[in-house]
Amino acid sequence: MDSIFVRGGKQLHGQIPIAGAKNACLALMPATLLSDEPLTLTGAPRLSDIRTMTELLQSLGAEVTSLQEGQVLAMSSHGRIETRADYDIVRKMRASNLVLGPLLAREGHAEVSLPGGCAIGARPMDIHTDGLARMGAEIELKDGYLHAKAQGGKLKGAVIDFPFASVGATENIMMAATLAKGTTVINNAAREPEIVDLATCLRAMGAQIDGDGTSTIKVQGVDRLKGATHRVVTDRIELGTYMLAPAICGGEVELLGGRIDLLAAFCEKLDAAGIAVTETDMGLKVARKNGRIRAVDVTTEPFPGFPTDLQAQMMALLCTAEGTSRLEETIFENRFMHAPELIRMGADIDVHGGTATVTGVERLKGAPVMATDLRASVSLILAGLAAEGETRVARVYHLDRGYEHVVTKLSGVGADIERIKGQ
Ligand code: UD1
Repeated sequence: MDSIFVRGGKQLHGQIPIAGAKNACLALMPATLLSDEPLTLTGAPRLSDIRTMTELLQSLGAEVTSLQEGQVLAMSSHGRIETRADYDIVRKMRASNLVLGPLLAREGHAEVSLPGGCAIGARPMDIHTDGLARMGAEIELKDGYLHAKAQGGKLKGAVIDFPFASVGATENIMMAATLAKGTTVINNAAREPEIVDLATCLRAMGAQIDGDGTSTIKVQGVDRLKGATHRVVTDRIELGTYMLAPAICGGEVELLGGRIDLLAAFCEKLDAAGIAVTETDMGLKVARKNGRIRAVDVTTEPFPGFPTDLQAQMMALLCTAEGTSRLEETIFENRFMHAPELIRMGADIDVHGGTATVTGVERLKGAPVMATDLRASVSLILAGLAAEGETRVARVYHLDRGYEHVVTKLSGVGADIERIKGQ
């Protein structure tokens, strides 16, 4: 297994290109199952999660060809499509459950393994399955698989009230509804930019969708969808992560392709913490306003609130802020696993249930630490960039799921960082 070694204390200057969004791409790829015609995605990120989704779609009989070093995904689902999403692939990545809606809409039945537990929380699928049941699917759990069957072979439009604005459930139901008979209304739908991106692609394929980006999405089912070419939206989580690098280390970095509207709540917190974010022709420029970072309180919320996927990285910043910050995690029940690792680096953090209290220290100190999940792993790299001495981040396979070329991107702006194989 590889480790990443970071020697802290360097100011960062230059530009970092931001990739297409992992979470958008993982929802866009299963949309190929909704049409016999080719779907091409451009601006795709080069990540192991994308390879896992490729493997899953190929196991179902779809063609997925990676072009231009993985930045273009040419997909086609003509002919026979299998309906069983196997445990061996699904267990690697929860987003595999996004094939359920499209398979059910296309074939009238699907067998999808339950993704199982995940380090950051239980993450059940009841919102997905209750929604599909409202659309006339009979769903039962057998041998660890969800067996779903549309009554009469075809899903029917329905009014679905989500108890929580689940991102994955909104995507699954929206895709299923494109080919259902009649109109589907999703109330309390998720409003994330990745939902808008998926709806934009589905519309290019001929779907009739309104209201994406609001809490009520309306989908009028059509008989068939056609092919399309779609550019994946910018990865706002990768963007936010790299915005924190000059905030933590000092210097000035331009994030190419960055947009404030993708991260408004996050940018407000950066401003309150003493970080200046300015729009440029190419993206966003980030630098400290002056002096030390100030403490801020953060509560994670569904979009447009502060993203849970940036909570760990924000905590790394607040470890050296002046004063005491409170971070409240409301989306996942177990998402503070980076805290004990940051404490190993000299941070002062007290976790009680869903709240972490962080009292800033003058300087973090390098230490060997362990990545526990995707966003936790990158928060430890950010902390290492700010720390005195060397930090070794082990178990970096988590990082490969969500950050392409992290060492190249950070060393390109002057960070002292390297990946060592087999350590
Ligand atoms: C997506 C993102 C993930 C992000 C999360 C919240 C992808 C591939 N992943 O995950 O990076 O952290 O949104 O912004 O896009 N829940 C239920 N029942 C369900 C579904 C969800 O109780 O049927 C709960 C989950 O356990 C969790 C919360 O709802 O506590 C949010 O989950 P959801 O919005 O569905 O997240 P994902 O789509 O899994």
